[in-house]
Amino acid sequence: EAGMTTKRMGRKVYFFAETDTTNNRARELALEGAPEGTLVVAERQTAGRGRRGKVWESPVGVGIWMSLILRPEILPAEASVLTLMCGLAAAEAIEEMTGLKAGIKWPNDVLIHGKKTVGILTEMDCEMSQVHFVIPGIGINVNTEEFPPELAQVATSLYLESGKTVSRCALVQKIMERIEVHYDRFLESGSFSSMLADYAQRCVTLGREVHVLGRESFWAEALSVTPEGELLVRRKDNGAEEVVFSGEVSIRGV
Ligand code: BTN
Repeated sequence: EAGMTTKRMGRKVYFFAETDTTNNRARELALEGAPEGTLVVAERQTAGRGRRGKVWESPVGVGIWMSLILRPEILPAEASVLTLMCGLAAAEAIEEMTGLKAGIKWPNDVLIHGKKTVGILTEMDCEMSQVHFVIPGIGINVNTEEFPPELAQVATSLYLESGKTVSRCALVQKIMERIEVHYDRFLESGSFSSMLADYAQRCVTLGREVHVLGRESFWAEALSVTPEGELLVRRKDNGAEEVVFSGEVSIRGV
């Protein structure tokens, strides 16, 4: 908490030396009524989760493993934009602190020099027409010195790319600041348009050829990000425009 300059985001921090996954701790706290902006941070996760059922390696000391509680008054269908918001905030904070150029691979991987440095797994508790809470779980490889060979091609850390050790505490603060800025703008305007413009500028997926893997799989060109945070694409096979939901797309090259 020391040094937090935000009003709500990260004002209350629960710190764990070790836990299975910060998303579980945040969920429990949210169910007990923890206020919006409550942050759970762990020094190490023993069962870190990635998207699509993958394991997320969360070794001690070198990363940021954290989950935030948000309580937005939006429809469940609108919640994916919050994940995009966290990816954007992380990219902005990283760039400000390290000078490294941080791109976003839709929906929310942050890439440095084409390799993944940040992953986000968002979990939500909702009914048909009401969101109770949203928990973006953010993982950042900060001072990792080495990745196993099978990961080294696709993953990197801020230390490996900048050659400097980065303060995890300062980076968490900066990310909370950036999330608060975007979230407050959204609450004031009722729209994600200002954030989506910033997001689109950083999004390395747009303009590229993507392989969409859903019920059907096809090649398409990524055109834009919709106000709901989905990806609008034009199919290569029949020229039709379609909206793709997160988790369905794999991107060639990156
Ligand atoms: C991905 O596959 O890209 C998402 C990785 C998300 C990792 C973070 S670390 C904090 C939170 N706790 C988890 O178990 N996962 C997320």
